[in-house]
Amino acid sequence: MNPITSSFGSAVGGKAEGATVLFINAIMVNTGFLKGKKLLITGVLSNRSIAYGIAQACYQQGAQLAFSFVGERTYTRVAKLAEDFQSDLLFDCDVSSDQQINDLFAQIHQKWQSFDGFVHSIGFSPKEGISGDFLTGLSREVFTTAHEISSYSFPAMVKASVPYLNDNACVLTLTYLGAHRITPSYNTMGLAKASLESSVRYCAGSLGAFGRGWRANAISAGPIKTVAAASMQDFGDILAVVGKHSPIQRNVTIQDVGHTAAFLMSDLAAGISAQIVYVDGGFSTLSVYK
Ligand SMILES: NC(=O)c1ccc[n+]([C@@H]2O[C@H](COP(=O)([O-])OP(=O)(O)OC[C@H]3O[C@@H](n4cnc5c(N)ncnc54)[C@H](O)[C@@H]3O)[C@@H](O)[C@H]2O)c1
Repeated sequence: MNPITSSFGSAVGGKAEGATVLFINAIMVNTGFLKGKKLLITGVLSNRSIAYGIAQACYQQGAQLAFSFVGERTYTRVAKLAEDFQSDLLFDCDVSSDQQINDLFAQIHQKWQSFDGFVHSIGFSPKEGISGDFLTGLSREVFTTAHEISSYSFPAMVKASVPYLNDNACVLTLTYLGAHRITPSYNTMGLAKASLESSVRYCAGSLGAFGRGWRANAISAGPIKTVAAASMQDFGDILAVVGKHSPIQRNVTIQDVGHTAAFLMSDLAAGISAQIVYVDGGFSTLSVYK
């Protein structure tokens, strides 16, 4: 399904002929606030991925998109999803390899020469790190893997991308409240996200020092049922509690996150850097639940 076609189907009363919808889509893509921007989106695994919602919003605002995938096992599904954004720019990158991170940007350079930033929507912990008791699941190996994939990979990608960034480029990552609050089963991922959030601030400092308008930010998203989230014990309970008690009285969607991400990636957000922006319906501000 083309997300633009579907969203505009309702805007024209759901009765428009395909040609009319395509015409309106063309106008939208040509006038969006990301028009002319070339962005790399990582972390698309399914149409429920947060990265998919971000791609939808960035595409709607006129960005040209490239995608990364992780080895042959995800190539076909990511290629199929990339078609929704008229993209055949697909790059293999497992962030556990520095070589693959460097190759990713060298390959993007071959296609685009330079580009306007990327979205890092990548996280992983071995099962023991996101189940049950924190100390029971803790080991050097679990800690190292969770931090390498979920935290180190972001500043590593920032570092590798520097030679290819256009003026006013922006980089963005995804984090979660479990970085700051004891959250059932989030455990070792909480430590990794705390490190990731700190890296956002240091990256913002390093990037800003180039004097080219470069920015780094994170979105702290509320819980959303995705492949990664479903692998965490207690995720269903967290979703229920947050949906019930959030000030907006519902859970956030990948579209909610996507729209904020598109804004942050754009020049409209030129004054925002080193920030953790909460897209969680206000849940993180609560002290007690009634
Ligand atoms: N879903 C939530 O509730 C939630 C809330 C806040 C933050 N986040 C964060 O959002 C980001 C995206 O997760 P999601 O929930 O959309 O789940 P998802 O499963 O759709 O996406 C996770 C992505 O990480 C990628 N990945 C894992 N290991 C990798 C590796 N070694 N190299 C490259 N890519 C790798 C996967 O291929 C996948 O595309 C993660 O950082 C996650 O921690 C998720």
